[in-house]
Amino acid sequence: MSAARARLGVLVSGSGSNLQALLDACAQADYPAEVACVVSNVPTAFALERARKARVPAVVLEHKAFSSRAEFEKALGEELRKAGVEWVCLAGFMRLLGADFLAGFPGRVLNIHPSLLPAFSGLHAQRQALERGVKIAGCTVHFVDAGMDTGAIIAQAAVPVLPEDDEASLSARILLEEHKLYPLAVRLAVTGKVTMQGARTRVDAPATLGELSLRSPGAPR
Ligand code: GRF
Repeated sequence: MSAARARLGVLVSGSGSNLQALLDACAQADYPAEVACVVSNVPTAFALERARKARVPAVVLEHKAFSSRAEFEKALGEELRKAGVEWVCLAGFMRLLGADFLAGFPGRVLNIHPSLLPAFSGLHAQRQALERGVKIAGCTVHFVDAGMDTGAIIAQAAVPVLPEDDEASLSARILLEEHKLYPLAVRLAVTGKVTMQGARTRVDAPATLGELSLRSPGAPR
């Protein structure tokens, strides 16, 4: 019999293409995780459709309906625990999470961000990259701490910035890499190959190192 699969709770606010990538990975028999539930703070998020199509329980928890961030996060934690969630994956979830929530899932909350952190944290990372004129952009999966995109870095993928790029074209190129990187990073995290050690990550097997920095076919060498 195969080992138990890690139960993921995926938090979303929008389109959910990264949720889709995780759902697709979890549909493979040998993937070590499954999506136990999806929670959106935005009732109209297309990600909810994706969850329903994959027959995964989907819940809307509107942060605006709660009197404080603490109350919202308490309800969020309860919802996830009710679904037996062990790992939390933020996938385009547009809220910061506080220390109390994070303490409920120690070293088990992941996020994907569309830049090569620590450059360009926060909103509109791709626009920031274009405005700064960088020649290589990319995405990062990291453990979440209470800061804005500051947690220990798990894996990164690089893409070139082309002279004709605008925000949409660069975002699309980065997103393609996000869809490969997130399932890879989740696999490494839930199998204990990469763990959070304060501000950095610990990688247990040297063979894993090559998987942690991806290069897209068009990226400069
Ligand atoms: C992605 O670019 C992700 O890196 C960022 O928000 C976007 C979400 O896209 N955090 P989607 O909802 O997964 O399509």
